[in-house]
Amino acid sequence: MNYNDTVMDHFTNPRNVGEVRDADGVGQVGNPACGDIMKISLRVKDDRIEEVKFKTFGCGAAIANSSMMTEMVKGKSVGDAAALKNTDIAEALGGLPPIKMHCSSLAADALHAAIEDYKKKKAAQETPAEAAAAS
Ligand code: FES
Repeated sequence: MNYNDTVMDHFTNPRNVGEVRDADGVGQVGNPACGDIMKISLRVKDDRIEEVKFKTFGCGAAIANSSMMTEMVKGKSVGDAAALKNTDIAEALGGLPPIKMHCSSLAADALHAAIEDYKKKKAAQETPAEAAAAS
C-alpha cells in the first residue's frame, strides 16, 4: 500500500490519541467489512470543540484519518465540525488510495456520532430548565 508522507506522519505519530475524561460527547462506529472500530470523545465549551481524542482499532489509514480529523475540528464550532466530510479529511491528508477511502468515512462517521451524542446530552440537560421556565 502506497501512502504519502502526510498519511505516514499521522499514522506513525498520531495526534490526540486517547479518551477525553468526562467527555461531553462520545461516538463509536465500526466497519463490518474490515472490522475496524473507531471511538471519538470530545469536550465542548461555548459551542466550540475544546478537546477531541480518538481510539482506533484499525488500519494505518484509519489511524491517520482519525488523527487528521481531530486536528481539523479542534477549536471549531460544533456546526462547522458537523459539516466536515470524509473527503475533506482525505484531501487534508493529501489523498488516499481508493480502496482506503472508507477509512476516512469511518473518521467522519465517528465524529458525527460524537456530535450527535453531545447534542442529545445537551438537549436532555436543557429540557428540565426550559420546562421549569415555561411553568
Ligand atoms: Fe477499514 Fe481502514 S481498512 S478502516
